[in-house]
Amino acid sequence: MRAIRINRFGGPEVLQVLDVAGPAELGAGEVLVRTVATSINPVDAKTREGAIGEGTPPLPMTLGWDLAGIVVDGGGTGRQVGERVLAMSHQLGTGRGTWADLVALPADALATAPAAISLTEAATLPLPGLSALQTLDWLAVSAGERLLITGAAGAVGGLALQLAVARNVRVDVLVSREEQLGFVREHGADFATTDRADLKDRHYDAVFDTFGALVTDAVADHGRYASIATQAGPVPDLSARGVRTTVNQVREDGKGLSELSRLVEEGVLTPRVDSAFAVREIRAAHEHFGRGGLNGKVTITF
Ligand SMILES: NC(=O)c1ccc[n+]([C@@H]2O[C@H](COP(=O)([O-])OP(=O)(O)OC[C@H]3O[C@@H](n4cnc5c(N)ncnc54)[C@H](OP(=O)(O)O)[C@@H]3O)[C@@H](O)[C@H]2O)c1
Repeated sequence: MRAIRINRFGGPEVLQVLDVAGPAELGAGEVLVRTVATSINPVDAKTREGAIGEGTPPLPMTLGWDLAGIVVDGGGTGRQVGERVLAMSHQLGTGRGTWADLVALPADALATAPAAISLTEAATLPLPGLSALQTLDWLAVSAGERLLITGAAGAVGGLALQLAVARNVRVDVLVSREEQLGFVREHGADFATTDRADLKDRHYDAVFDTFGALVTDAVADHGRYASIATQAGPVPDLSARGVRTTVNQVREDGKGLSELSRLVEEGVLTPRVDSAFAVREIRAAHEHFGRGGLNGKVTITF
């Protein structure tokens, strides 16, 4: 089978499409999936570059966290051959990358893919969607509360915005570019700005910080502040103001993916595909991803 691997760290030129052996016999509780599509996440580029440091799986490694595909062996788990599924594999934690024709994953990391969208669209959801869902759950924002999302036009931020609005939370956003204002307003942001100075007199019950803005003055006393931007370091200790803080780490979570699938079916969540590349174009896909200015996810079709 084909796998997208690196055997050294560096730019897109280190990515190789290799013919390798498929997964060995399935372990207990595992399902074998034929990959139809995946997408590029910031962590894939950082892993490729060697920027993760401690905790990086050994070389050579197959990259990739997101997966949308078809079950080819249910392994006695109840999953049937031919089912359309989506999954997130914690590639850094397990070394099990999804950028391969065949991927074996624990059944409880999988969910049924939404019937209403293509598997290329579904491949945009797992890592960003679970990051959005798990962090919103940690923030425990309820209807009527005020939430600030930084980077709300990004992959995680855009899904967090849609999820929070569906929970009747009042959402304000900070984005990087004027052209992102249309997207966030269309998806229910009350107040949207590109200028963090505009947040000066605003105070929120909760802040979901996707890029490490660390706008800690924006959280009200006794509020909650969650960052997912590990590269920005820890959120300063705000316990003197009664504010709980965290840097959230995404977890494999089939139940969470089922919820995301259901929300897509109900029209609450809309996947965004910036562009679709073939496996053989993986270097061009990474170059495109690295240039930024994206409007949705960069997907890879197998
Ligand atoms: N801890 C975890 O488990 C976890 C999980 C998922 C993601 N992450 C991390 O979270 C971050 C976001 O992930 P993502 O997939 O959502 O990335 P993304 O799609 O690139 O989104 C990031 C967003 O933040 C915006 N942004 C960046 N710098 C900004 C600034 N100075 N002011 C305003 N907006 C700014 C970007 O705007 P532009 O498009 O203009 O650059 C983009 O819209 C990444 O660093 C990723 O590695 C962590």
